[in-house]
Amino acid sequence: MFYTSISSYYEYIFPLKREKVKFALDGLASNENILDVGCSTGKLARAISEYGHSVIGIDLDKDMISIAKEYENDKLSFYKMNMLDIDKNFSESIFDEILCFGNTLVHLQNNKDVLNLFKKIRLLLKEGGKFKFQVINYEKVLNENLNGLPTIENEKVKFIREYKLINGLIEFKTKLIIKDENKVIKNKIMLLPIGKDEILKLLKEAGFKKINCFSSFSKESFDKSKLPLVIEAS
Ligand SMILES: C[S@@+](CC[C@H](N)C(=O)[O-])C[C@H]1O[C@@H](n2cnc3c(N)ncnc32)[C@H](O)[C@@H]1O
Repeated sequence: MFYTSISSYYEYIFPLKREKVKFALDGLASNENILDVGCSTGKLARAISEYGHSVIGIDLDKDMISIAKEYENDKLSFYKMNMLDIDKNFSESIFDEILCFGNTLVHLQNNKDVLNLFKKIRLLLKEGGKFKFQVINYEKVLNENLNGLPTIENEKVKFIREYKLINGLIEFKTKLIIKDENKVIKNKIMLLPIGKDEILKLLKEAGFKKINCFSSFSKESFDKSKLPLVIEAS
């Protein structure tokens, strides 16, 4: 429900940024196979496929996927799928790169599922293939007792985001105001505030050997005082 209700406004809230596309394309040869996990409306997948790569996007939300599907072509396809089911739907060693941006990973509700996902991703990657993902730096959120993320506001929307720690998970409450429709959509979902050190431990346990952490898609060195955590693992 959370993502269904905001799917038609998603690209106003989170317009695709050039740095994100550049980070995804970085290091790719030509005509590579890419999987975008939690692709939402498919905008990133679409942008990457325009560079000649074959891209598959998956997302749990049917409305997000139906928006994405409008742009399908022979190099771009989308499926409604739980990220924990990727091993059932794709063969081993077929992707050159797997992406999981926009804090999608922390929709899993425990570290065991995160480890499972990391293992499945590693199996789907070709030898030397890269897993690139981005989450919120939850060590900062927890250490500083942050009660939300900065409000996103532009001409079309205002998106207010609150955090509350409950029994080890974060209750993520949002209020989306669509200005020209005079409409307000309120939502709530639980997120796993997994920190960088735990993520690194689980990546190693899943068999990833080379891991780099950044604080932005432009590959600024990791700084614990910044909110984004961007990781590249192979
Ligand atoms: C905050 S959005 C991020 C979307 C996009 N990757 C981005 O960078 O803007 C999180 C997405 O993850 C999807 N999602 C949540 N849980 C999922 C799961 N278990 N399997 C697949 N997708 C999931 C949601 O439907 C939503 O579209």
